[in-house]
Amino acid sequence: MSENILVCIAWPYANGPLHHGQLGGAYLPGDIFARYHRAKGNHVAMVSGSDVHGTPITVRAEREGRSPEEVVAEFHASFLRTWEGIGISWDVFTSTGTENHARVVQDLFRRLIDNGYMYTASQTLLYDPVDHRFLPDRYVEGTCPHCAFEQARGDQCDDCGRQLDATDLIDPRSKTSGATPELRESEHYLLKLTALEEPLAAWLGSGKEHWRKHVLNFSQGMLREGLKDRAITRDISWGIAVPADVVAKTPSMAEKRIYVWFEAVIGYLSATMEWAEQSGDAEAWKVFWEQPDAKIYNFIGKDNVPFHTIIWPGILLAAGGLNLPYDVPANQYITMSGSKASTSQNWAVWVEDYLTRYDPDPLRYALASQMPETSDSDFSWGEFLRRNNDELVATWGNLVNRTLTFTVKNFDGAVPDPGPLDPASMHLLDQARSTLDQVGESIAAVHLRQGLQQAFALAQEANRYLDTTAPWRTIKEDRQAAARSLYTVLNVIAALRTALWPYLPFSCEELNDFLGATASIPEQGWSLQALQPGAKLQTPHPLFKKLDHAIVEAEEARLGS
Ligand code: MF3
Ligand code: ZN
Repeated sequence: MSENILVCIAWPYANGPLHHGQLGGAYLPGDIFARYHRAKGNHVAMVSGSDVHGTPITVRAEREGRSPEEVVAEFHASFLRTWEGIGISWDVFTSTGTENHARVVQDLFRRLIDNGYMYTASQTLLYDPVDHRFLPDRYVEGTCPHCAFEQARGDQCDDCGRQLDATDLIDPRSKTSGATPELRESEHYLLKLTALEEPLAAWLGSGKEHWRKHVLNFSQGMLREGLKDRAITRDISWGIAVPADVVAKTPSMAEKRIYVWFEAVIGYLSATMEWAEQSGDAEAWKVFWEQPDAKIYNFIGKDNVPFHTIIWPGILLAAGGLNLPYDVPANQYITMSGSKASTSQNWAVWVEDYLTRYDPDPLRYALASQMPETSDSDFSWGEFLRRNNDELVATWGNLVNRTLTFTVKNFDGAVPDPGPLDPASMHLLDQARSTLDQVGESIAAVHLRQGLQQAFALAQEANRYLDTTAPWRTIKEDRQAAARSLYTVLNVIAALRTALWPYLPFSCEELNDFLGATASIPEQGWSLQALQPGAKLQTPHPLFKKLDHAIVEAEEARLGS
């Protein structure tokens, strides 16, 4: 039975290029997951887009004396090049700047008012007396009232992860003028999270055994501390306007904009609608959002957890009739050489820049093999080099290269006829089939590291078998034995072409050509497409390059400058 799987990945702010932490934290895991489900024959859509509103965009624009539109255009284009180069296989990658998105957001805004989950109230907010404006979240900094972290932002503390109201900050200061803000009154729409506490607790309290512990604990902890109603409009001019009919009844809303976090999460729904429209069936989004057995996955980094396990499900419950996330497999952080990745300090690997010097699959491999599924992990160039040379090249690349080269040369460019198989060969072929199943189960459970380990364990097994059966020796005295051994390993390689494809799509597609396939890997399905004796093979070339140790120093020298 084919399943309906919607893969939703966090919308990156279009205020800077994408780095390795974001890639390994959300985009790569979502992509691996979506690729697997497509090969499995499930009905999949993978959606996201640029998050173009909010203070992260305007802060950068103001600093550089540019318009927000210019900043957004630059980095949206950069994202598109990055996805292409590193192989993130979107069904749609749009932006929150589209008319479609604004319409869906405004419809939902109205629906929540109608359903009684939103109301207006006067808010006491921070006002910058020097710049003469209200200070939204990221324009104000101060000390966290919970953990005493001194650089907490007005919306969230990056140290303890708690959500904040700017007025909660101790010793607040304006980030633009440095002034101590005053308190002033302003009318805003609030989301009635207090009324959603109970339904959210019921939802989080049952059938979540498949959720990651850290995600569930954090979310249930938030509910235990109690929710507060939150303002979802802002005194800013960059963002989605409050619907005209609402403004007609509440004129104070004319100059306000909808809070970025309220509207960005709605992007999952609006992007699915955009995808449906493009696919020629405008109703196709309903399969994912209305059919009860559809599964929606949200791939995100841990700083986004509250918005995906509390706010967004809360909005969906308040709207009614729409599916909530089935799983939110948030990742922890990937640090860079032991410290937190940072844009302002140039402390990260910029994916687009990486691609000017290296192939995509080695980075995908390095990140997937230590994905921070349960705790933080670290990326360093030394470790990247080691994984490339000692694992990707030595274990997998060499297995493919020596097997195919030797076969093409000695068996006329075709799969040899093995004759009757011996127990060791049958055993290895059984292992190839069961590994493919196990890798599939691991990916479906979003244990992506484990799936990769299982595939590599099989490659190691095949290397041992090849060393033991040594076809380069037996070819001289027992050609049949050499044929049997090569046939067996070729079929293990055929299984691994599929098992590794979600992780290493570029090299697996090349390998698929070497193996003489006419169908693409996802078209072949998630099962061993056995190579038949006599089938033509292509002369291979190495799938991966060994990297020189000098790159470690060269790359480290780029950091922090
Ligand atoms: N733009 C946010 C970030 O980069 C993520 C938004 S995810 C969404 O942290 F669901 F709200 F869209
Ligand atoms: Zn804190």
